[in-house]
Amino acid sequence: MTTVLGVLGATGVTGSLLVQYGLEREHQVVGLARFPWKLPGDHLDAISSGKLRIVKGDARDEAALEEVVKSTDVIFEATGHNHNRPGTMREDIAKLLVKLMRKHGKKRLLYISAAFAHEEGLVVVPQRMRGMVAFMSDNKGADVLKAEEVYRAAGSWLEWTVIQPPRIVQKPLTEDLITKAGKFPQAQNGSFTITFADMALMMLDTAANGTFIHQDVYLNCPSKLSPGLKDIPKFADMMITNLGNALRRCKRRPSAP
Ligand SMILES: NC(=O)c1ccc[n+]([C@@H]2O[C@H](COP(=O)([O-])OP(=O)(O)OC[C@H]3O[C@@H](n4cnc5c(N)ncnc54)[C@H](OP(=O)(O)O)[C@@H]3O)[C@@H](O)[C@H]2O)c1
Repeated sequence: MTTVLGVLGATGVTGSLLVQYGLEREHQVVGLARFPWKLPGDHLDAISSGKLRIVKGDARDEAALEEVVKSTDVIFEATGHNHNRPGTMREDIAKLLVKLMRKHGKKRLLYISAAFAHEEGLVVVPQRMRGMVAFMSDNKGADVLKAEEVYRAAGSWLEWTVIQPPRIVQKPLTEDLITKAGKFPQAQNGSFTITFADMALMMLDTAANGTFIHQDVYLNCPSKLSPGLKDIPKFADMMITNLGNALRRCKRRPSAP
């Protein structure tokens, strides 16, 4: 039987790989996207052939999310913040998702968190870089953790898996990913970087094999992976946003009497 995959964040880097690999494995895919025009060209072909359906909308819009949930067997929550300001986007999506999955009797959910939002994950980052890594993701990290708590508190009917990636780069598949439930797998060379492609395939395998249910799974890769050219715009955008946030915080700080 073909499993129907639901992908939230279908236009994102991970989301579009989940769609691509899902289609290659002959699954039907239903994607949620706020701006479907951002989909890659081959996904448009899949829409024409009926293998991919895109629901247009925000994941916090109940009607749009329900349309995805009711027609799929497994949900991949692969949305992401495009800023590091305080907010509750992932937590809001989590609350709505739990409500709708329960309503429609859907159980399987894979949620992408962030290893570095956890002390457990941050330990693999060299001491001199920890402050910067924590600073780069403090606000969105807090939201990501609150969403995790929503899934953990949903009850045992919800078969959640929380994916805990470290730094992720846009490099080809290495097929060298190491996974460990509940604990960060240390790579011998001290690496803490994986590829989006490896993570997407691992998520599809996890859904297909029914593994890591009610578990956090930390990812790492022994290959030396540094960011490539494709990662530069995202990194630059993140730095600009974080510097803006820091300046705003300084301005808000009351001056000494
Ligand atoms: N990159 C890293 O090093 C790293 C490390 C650890 C964890 N992560 C996590 O990994 C996940 C995937 O990362 P990524 O780089 O693939 O993300 P991405 O490319 O930024 O994609 C995020 C997706 O979420 C969508 N989205 C955002 N807000 C939405 C909303 N309210 N409703 C519906 N869709 C929404 C975006 O759509 P629009 O096009 O409409 O904005 C986009 O398709 C993220 O949660 C990220 O935090 C990343």
